[in-house]
Amino acid sequence: MKIAVLKETRPGETRVAATPETVKKFMGLGATLSVQTGAGEGARFADTDYAEAGAQISPSAADAVQGADIVLKVQAPSSEEMRVFTQGQTLIGIMSAYNAPDSVPAYARMGIDALAMDFMPRITRAQSMDVLSSQSNLAGYKAVIDASAYYGRALPMMMTAAGTIAAAKVFVMGAGVAGLQAIATARRLGAVVSATDVRFAAKEQVNSLGATFVTVDEEAMKEAETEGGYAKEMSDDFKKRQAEFVAEHIAKQDIVITTALIPGRPAPRLVDADMVRSMKAGSVIVDLAVEAGGNVELARLGEAIEIDGVTILGFANVPGRLAADASSLYARNVYNFIAAFTDKENGNFVADPEDEIIKGIALTRGGKVVHAAFEDKAEEPAPAEAQQAEVEEPSSSDGDE
Ligand code: NAI
Repeated sequence: MKIAVLKETRPGETRVAATPETVKKFMGLGATLSVQTGAGEGARFADTDYAEAGAQISPSAADAVQGADIVLKVQAPSSEEMRVFTQGQTLIGIMSAYNAPDSVPAYARMGIDALAMDFMPRITRAQSMDVLSSQSNLAGYKAVIDASAYYGRALPMMMTAAGTIAAAKVFVMGAGVAGLQAIATARRLGAVVSATDVRFAAKEQVNSLGATFVTVDEEAMKEAETEGGYAKEMSDDFKKRQAEFVAEHIAKQDIVITTALIPGRPAPRLVDADMVRSMKAGSVIVDLAVEAGGNVELARLGEAIEIDGVTILGFANVPGRLAADASSLYARNVYNFIAAFTDKENGNFVADPEDEIIKGIALTRGGKVVHAAFEDKAEEPAPAEAQQAEVEEPSSSDGDE
């Protein structure tokens, strides 16, 4: 089994899909690895660290993927990056396929078997492979650290000889993996924390972290969770009552962290412009859902902006702001997945189509779109860029920068 590790090319992507640690582990499975030069740069892993772990360092993406059975990425490859792939290769990454549904038939046409780590089913066996959890956990932590850096006051209550300063009030909206870590981090820093979610199960988890759970309708919450543990879109009536309640609560907060997502749909809008303006000058809002359309009306992707004295942070790729840890955890998720599907006898990776995990994450196989969410895309014409990627020869200079 030959595994290639590519350098990420999307602007601002600091993470890498394998670390020297996982390279060593893959070697233990009998794999050979080629790592594109500079792949670990953004996360402070040097080529020499990978070489010491046993990987071959390749001068370009084209070189790295040549003869590879599996290609590891963090983000889905751009059409430019796709040019170096050859038919029959397995691509593993955080594919964000709902945001780029046309990419799925493009993989099929190229004969690439694409596996989406972000579609990992939330079953016990797959917990160690769950990239959404590993990355969201870091994002939740970093959101609080970012907020505190922009907040012109301290978070804990402090009693000093010069008098007492009050603890900051932090409100976390969406108490999934990111939200719960944000609550825990804000609590550790001494803030007074409240949180809300639409899933009933979240209430106990929030309380167990020492935060107050606030909601408009506990009965409606009992219906709000899918079997997979995700939130459903709520009724218009619930949304209206939630907005009224949030408007009142938010005006009293110093820091608001929003994390609410609904898989396959735009993020729910939870904070409107009036709510932003109702907050005190100096308050900070962090919108962790900004890449999925945003929970906060005025948030701008990739920017820190100020509206009437209220700072709104819409940083992109928040896990990537902790590149080394985010890479280490992602790389372990990927290793755990590959190891679980590697035949111990012959060292080959076998993605059994009947396995629940593979059913959840396989987008394409053998030239066909196999994921139910994208089957309707299977017969649509190729986008111009992807068609070009299909016909052009791999470029040996790709990703060489
Ligand atoms: P997510 O990232 O999809 O969404 C974040 C949070 O926003 C969720 O808690 C969701 O309920 C909430 N939300 C959605 N719409 C909202 C609205 N209108 N107002 C307020 N909140 C809203 O969710 P995440 O973090 O992936 O976690 C979802 C659940 O899955 C959690 O219960 C988590 O503990 C569970 N989980 C289970 C795993 C397993 O069993 N292997 C692994 C990881 C998470």
